[in-house]
Amino acid sequence: MKHLLSVTDAKKDIFEILELAGNFKEDPYGKKPLKNKTLAMIFEKASTRTRISFEVAMLHLGGNPLYLSASDMQLGRGEIIEDTANVLSRYVDGVMIRAIKHEDVLLFAQNSNVPVINGLTDKEHPCQSLTDIFTIFEHKNSYQVKMAYLGDGNNVCNSLLLTCALVGMDLTVICPAGYEPDQEIFEKALMYAEETGSNIEITSNVPDGVKDADVIYTDVWVSMGDEAEKLQRLIDLNDYQVNMELLKHAKPDAIVMHCLPAIRGQEITDEVMKSSQSVIWDQAENRMHVETAILFKLLNK
Ligand code: CP
Ligand code: NVA
Repeated sequence: MKHLLSVTDAKKDIFEILELAGNFKEDPYGKKPLKNKTLAMIFEKASTRTRISFEVAMLHLGGNPLYLSASDMQLGRGEIIEDTANVLSRYVDGVMIRAIKHEDVLLFAQNSNVPVINGLTDKEHPCQSLTDIFTIFEHKNSYQVKMAYLGDGNNVCNSLLLTCALVGMDLTVICPAGYEPDQEIFEKALMYAEETGSNIEITSNVPDGVKDADVIYTDVWVSMGDEAEKLQRLIDLNDYQVNMELLKHAKPDAIVMHCLPAIRGQEITDEVMKSSQSVIWDQAENRMHVETAILFKLLNK
């Protein structure tokens, strides 16, 4: 694995990353393999978890994280991505980017001599979905479970489709018409699912989709960049809320997940977030452990 732009870049390494993450979770301060290495972190969008978990992960490994707001760089004044990637490669050992457009991260990686990590784009959020699978295994001790994802078929949903298909997990995406995940990614997930035996499907029927689920997952209805569509989205997605009533259709021991930030009263209720079925805080913590593993795998060379 040279870069982590899509979760499919980790296809061969996925179980190794998950195992490494478990080791780092047990002993986060043990080794300092990235001593004297620097990770540049470029943000075109807001972040709480990605920024902080990557910074701390890098510090745990003995390296230096460097936070860069894209709007403060010459990028924000029109310097092209190719030139930025070329220059940064001379200074740092790895780059994490949260970008508005997925294509920009691909372009950056094409012009970078150091590993590039996708920290969220309009298309994918691979660090999140790898963390999610890690968290599910932690709670269910198996990858052979059924996840039901409700709401907007967005970046997080796209990465979950690919990740579930890669590890053999079943995933039912439950969304209204017009909010389906990326078609190309869905087809790619179906291809991987054939290899691993996972069952991947999309439905708009909430009770049917949630039936027998071991994992209930949701994300915001209005992602960063979708603010202009907010009112329409709240109307269209209204029946897809994760609430106590919905949980009755899943298995009694189903766990509830959310990548955060959550908007209580929209995609999820406060009651569900605080319920004993929620593993949302473990999930948030695990970002740091999984990213430690990703950094170790990509930068320890
Ligand atoms: N889940 C996630 O990526 O959170 P942030 O937007 O806070 O980084
Ligand atoms: N789908 C959300 C995820 C935030 C972590 C967004 O893109 O804003």
